[in-house]
Amino acid sequence: MNIVRLASAAFDALTKDPHPPPCILGAPDALDNLRSSLPPGFFLGTATAAHQIEGGLDNDWTDWERGFHADGSPHVKDRTVSGAACDSWNRFSEDLQLMRRLGANAYRFSVEWSRLEPSEGAWNDEAAERYLSWAHALRNAGIEPLVTLHHFTLPRWVATQGGWMNDRTVDLLVAFTERVAKKLGSAVDFWCTINEPNVLMAMSYLKGVFPPGLKDQRLCVQGLARLLRAHGRMVEALREHDTVDADGDGFSTRIGLAHHVRVFQPATRHPFDRLAAGLTDQLFNQAIVDALVHGRITLAIPGIVDIDEPAPNLKGSLDWLGLNYYGRDHIRVNLSDPSLSEQYVPADRPTSDLGWDIYPEGMYRVLRRYGALGLPIYVTENGIADHRGDKRSEFLRSHFEALVRAARDGVDVRGYFHWSLLDNFEWAEGHEPRFGLYRVDYGDAEKRREETPAVAVFQTIARGLGRTPER
Ligand code: FCB
Repeated sequence: MNIVRLASAAFDALTKDPHPPPCILGAPDALDNLRSSLPPGFFLGTATAAHQIEGGLDNDWTDWERGFHADGSPHVKDRTVSGAACDSWNRFSEDLQLMRRLGANAYRFSVEWSRLEPSEGAWNDEAAERYLSWAHALRNAGIEPLVTLHHFTLPRWVATQGGWMNDRTVDLLVAFTERVAKKLGSAVDFWCTINEPNVLMAMSYLKGVFPPGLKDQRLCVQGLARLLRAHGRMVEALREHDTVDADGDGFSTRIGLAHHVRVFQPATRHPFDRLAAGLTDQLFNQAIVDALVHGRITLAIPGIVDIDEPAPNLKGSLDWLGLNYYGRDHIRVNLSDPSLSEQYVPADRPTSDLGWDIYPEGMYRVLRRYGALGLPIYVTENGIADHRGDKRSEFLRSHFEALVRAARDGVDVRGYFHWSLLDNFEWAEGHEPRFGLYRVDYGDAEKRREETPAVAVFQTIARGLGRTPER
């Protein structure tokens, strides 16, 4: 069954045009009067994650950040630790003010499991109260809170029990979800269960750059299956325990998952490169979506791992699909790599500070592709590492224009969250990459926030949507 599916993905890869027109966007769209192109209530916001901005955390990552790989290189490239990060735990009102200045009407943030449940069964009600107060403050400011329940980190006590290699982690995350739903449900309707299961498992169990730092395809795929099972049960817990319709629109919950999608471009027309791109696409982009849509977890790497199991609670689990879109990889065959292929960015491509291909057409392509599923789509992340702040404006403009074009072409896209509000701790890269619309001065005790030029572009979009950014 799985082999059949992989073979069919491979066949698709060989028959599809591997070289779509280089620029399908045409002339720039205007960012004013967006209301005629985008649905009423379109969410325009920013996205963050607790570990990357809050500061003062104690979880599996805080341990990992201090460690080294077997070859002596540090786990975090620039040798920084999350530490105080942006101190957003203590500066929420300041950050809220920045959102008002942007003219945002939505904010995606995550609640930190290790903070709320510092040891198994314990509960930090003071911290929960603080998150609740944030959700209320956002609402009062006309900003819809979208809460992510799991964004990469695990409490240390979960990680030491095996983390995503232990079936019990699913039960523990579901129990946590239930408590959060009960506590925040009165102020939160929009929930994101899990952030990027594919990235989390690839980085943790394939590339070995996130904790626990392993390189094992079988463990990677098994962990992915557990994350999918967790998603299904988290949705059930949310629907059961958040029964309050906080914004009076008739729904007490609107639940999705943030899926990282990439464009995989075969390096050449050679059938092997096209096959490699097709297989990568199937495993990274498509398998998760298939499971969520069809209610069956089908994950296979021939000769290594083969999971094929019914998961009826996945079907219908999504009220919307979140897409995190950052760019494109070229794929070519490389027989010396365990995956038999390698990803790269051609030297002539414009790139971010992290070397990621800046490819706004990809935004249009992924929206068209996943829009065809018939689910409402939210772009739950999109952004650029840009230290000098001279690429972000054009990045934001071009990607948002691609979104508008997809909406005009019929995609039911209902929101856009820029990654990120602030510079933040970028996992294995450290504090060096700067993703913020607002620059953070980490050396300053007050963690001073400073506007980058892209704020003006965001405000233009907000005005186009009828919002008035505050001064
Ligand atoms: C995404 C992650 C997010 C951030 C951005 C740059 O993959 O979800 O936390 O690190 O990349």
